[in-house]
Amino acid sequence: MSRRRIIAGNWKMNKTPAEAAELVALLKDKVVNDAVDVVYCVPSIDITTVAEAVKGTNVKVGAQNFYIEDKGAFTGEISAPMLKEAGVSYIIIGHSERRDIFGENDILINQKVKKAFASGLNPILCCGESLALRKAGTYCEWIKRQITWDLSGISADDVKKLVIAYEPIWAIGTGETATADQAQEVCHMIRETIAELYDSATAEAVRIQYGGSMNAANAAELLAKEDIDGGLIGGASLKADFAQIVNA
Ligand code: PGA
Repeated sequence: MSRRRIIAGNWKMNKTPAEAAELVALLKDKVVNDAVDVVYCVPSIDITTVAEAVKGTNVKVGAQNFYIEDKGAFTGEISAPMLKEAGVSYIIIGHSERRDIFGENDILINQKVKKAFASGLNPILCCGESLALRKAGTYCEWIKRQITWDLSGISADDVKKLVIAYEPIWAIGTGETATADQAQEVCHMIRETIAELYDSATAEAVRIQYGGSMNAANAAELLAKEDIDGGLIGGASLKADFAQIVNA
């Protein structure tokens, strides 16, 4: 089965609305590839600006965080209906920075995946191991456990629409990329985990990205791997290089 490639930029906490408009304008003529799904996952404050700026292009807008309730007394949070109305179609869930800095655990991440599907947002579910787990050699067990918890109670039909991002924490923002073989090993293991939890048709349909210092120089080699269907790009999504990754 051929899966459609998906390249998503994770802008993290970068770009004011004015800067966001400039970046979208810079990328506009370069990020033109109908064979690839392209997503800009932007800070919430930038969503309206970016949604307006990408109108008429094939770029979709993503968010980086939300809460599981639709509205109410949740100071500082933003809801799925708010994101939807503002033009968001993808949502990053379970990024290691949210897990490690903001204390999000797999119970909340699982609730967020459920809420995203129920709200018509496409989750980009992140998983990945620390350097200690990589060195200990137990990273596959760890990631398998993350996926199993995070997808508890999610139907096969939803998982077919899911994007999973494998992001080894030791490669995020460090300039140290997993080799294409290391990334392929884990992405393949993730697909096998989906086959065990669901069935082979679901495993064939789910799209798996690699993330962690992916850039214009290494993207083609990573994306050539059988189980790597795209990338979640941090640093390199903030510059013109992003277009080279989309076209890799
Ligand atoms: P990076 O970030 O490309 O800057 O390593 C990737 C991510 O955290 O999504």
